[in-house]
Amino acid sequence: MKRLTVPKIRAHKADGETAKPLVMLTAYTARQAQLLDAHCDMLLVGDSLAQVIYGLPTTIPVTLDMMATHAAAVVRGSYHSVVVVDMPFGSYEQSPQQAFESATFLLKQSGAAAVKLEGGAQMAETVSFLNQRGIPVMGHVGLTPQAVNVLGGYAARGRSDAEAEKIVGDARALDEAGAFAIVLEGVLEPIAIEATGAVSCPTIGIGASAQCDGQVLVTEDMLGMFERVPRFVKKYADIAGVIETTVAQYAEEVRGRSFPTPDQTYQPKS
Ligand code: KIV
Ligand code: NA
Repeated sequence: MKRLTVPKIRAHKADGETAKPLVMLTAYTARQAQLLDAHCDMLLVGDSLAQVIYGLPTTIPVTLDMMATHAAAVVRGSYHSVVVVDMPFGSYEQSPQQAFESATFLLKQSGAAAVKLEGGAQMAETVSFLNQRGIPVMGHVGLTPQAVNVLGGYAARGRSDAEAEKIVGDARALDEAGAFAIVLEGVLEPIAIEATGAVSCPTIGIGASAQCDGQVLVTEDMLGMFERVPRFVKKYADIAGVIETTVAQYAEEVRGRSFPTPDQTYQPKS
């Protein structure tokens, strides 16, 4: 299986009604990437690794080094999906030049194909700057977690007419700037419908209804690794439960001296 390309993702929408929604999940490690790769169109090395891997309270502290390290692991673990890397907070907002330097570092260190950054119309110039210089960009509008200190939390966006209009305008601006896809996070369904209809690139929804051109979730959330997840997450499995019962059994067998058995033991040749 040859690796999908960014132009194929962008062109996806041209297939119209016959196009199957794009499938994206987050991945932070090589083994995780191996398990997800064949089922996905895109793997996102999300800065959500802050909470999922590092136990950080927000994505604000994430660094370029952290993103590059995990992105490289995900590229090594995959051969089919387009690997997209999140630009961490503070690494791109200042200027197109700053963004280019940061994105170049991420792609050189990891071998990933594209970056994702948060923000709408105010990032359009940067998106176009990067795209014209060989770096495909995925946009991300609506609920943008790096802006948590401005937004004051992680509530769904677009409840007022002005906010709804801004989100659709942001999506349009990113599309016109050349974004190859746009994540719509935590927005009301009518906004997802309007934004999806307003842009030529695919929209990828997370908490943005079934009306987007694709869907993304944090893998650990949908696998049931965490007790508390946002309302928009469907838990497809109870991996935390599997780990807990498995580890409890291991602990009991070690303490009861029933593990290891001769099967797991080396003996000198007789
Ligand atoms: O960091 C992340 O996981 C993301 C997705 C949830 C879109 O940005
Ligand atoms: Na992110």
